[in-house]
Amino acid sequence: MGSVQWTLLLLVVVSICSVHVHASDPPLTLDYYKKTCPAVLELVRKEMECAVLSDPRNAALILRLHFHDCFVQGCDGSVLLDDTIDLQGEKEAPTNKNALKGFRIIDKIKNLLESECPGIVSCADILTVAARDAVLLVGGPYWDVPLGRKDSKTAGYELSSINLPTAADGLLSIISKFMEQGLSVTDMVALSGAHTIGMARCVNFRDRIYGDYALTSEANPISEAYLQNLRSSCPPAGGEDNKESAMDYETPELFDNSYYQILLRGQGLINSDQELYSSILGIETKRLVQNYAENPLAFFEQFSQSMVKMGNITNPETYVDGEVRRNCRFVNT
Ligand code: HEM
Repeated sequence: MGSVQWTLLLLVVVSICSVHVHASDPPLTLDYYKKTCPAVLELVRKEMECAVLSDPRNAALILRLHFHDCFVQGCDGSVLLDDTIDLQGEKEAPTNKNALKGFRIIDKIKNLLESECPGIVSCADILTVAARDAVLLVGGPYWDVPLGRKDSKTAGYELSSINLPTAADGLLSIISKFMEQGLSVTDMVALSGAHTIGMARCVNFRDRIYGDYALTSEANPISEAYLQNLRSSCPPAGGEDNKESAMDYETPELFDNSYYQILLRGQGLINSDQELYSSILGIETKRLVQNYAENPLAFFEQFSQSMVKMGNITNPETYVDGEVRRNCRFVNT
């Protein structure tokens, strides 16, 4: 398929999806808490330092939480809400169940901020700053975080399954899910670089190591030794669904560009990652993967910009109807 046809197809895919939220000019500012809670950045950083020092995996948990927050109703802390009689949270949605952790780290930061400046700092802002610090603390880039988000009074259980990409999604599906949030193909490829840290569960890469569609495709190979290693911990059926393997087997605890180098070798752990480089539809994504694999600074720069863009995804209603939760797990009574 030529690039013109590819673009046309993509436009059709995107235009049939209705746009609910976008990454456009929310009323956020860098000095939002300057007068009301001047220590906010320092306090979040300190807590994140403790969390990442005690286990570098915590950086990955927080970064993923922020992503799953922003893609469902905008960055509004909705992912942090627990189920109650009145509210069905997002934590038990199929895309999130058994796959999201790190809530206690956010609780701890929130408690600290509530004692320092009660009722001021939203959970959505805490998560956004904590995600930036998480990346920085494992060797990634720094960027300034615009602030002033409000917390939602609702959650999007069903929207979670619709909006969030999964390991089984093909490239076009992933691109359209990002475009629906106002994020470009470049944003998508750069943000996928988050998989340079953290783990995936067997249930999310079983198809890749046993299934037909990934392995038998010449365009999407995986090395024999690596494959045997993965198969020994992730059996073809029955059990071990939650057994984890690193997505970047070279430097799993370091935020660097080796994720892209792994894709060049056809060794991406989850199929949706390998698609960025190996899909026949991915002319542009392949070029971007090659660029970030060769040029770590280009990756860091784009990742920073795209994280700000993702962090700015808003649902305008939250600004009218939102609040600053006292406890990130529950809407204020
Ligand atoms: C491009 C589409 C994406 C897909 C299909 C995808 C899918 C996945 C899957 C299947 C896992 C493993 C989860 C599990 O097995 O429990 C995962 C983990 C992770 N994802 Fe993504 N993801 C995408 C984009 C992103 C983005 C944009 C970010 C953040 C900016 C992100 C951050 C992470 C992190 C840090 C982990 C590791 C979490 C941990 O160690 O527990 N992902 N992702």
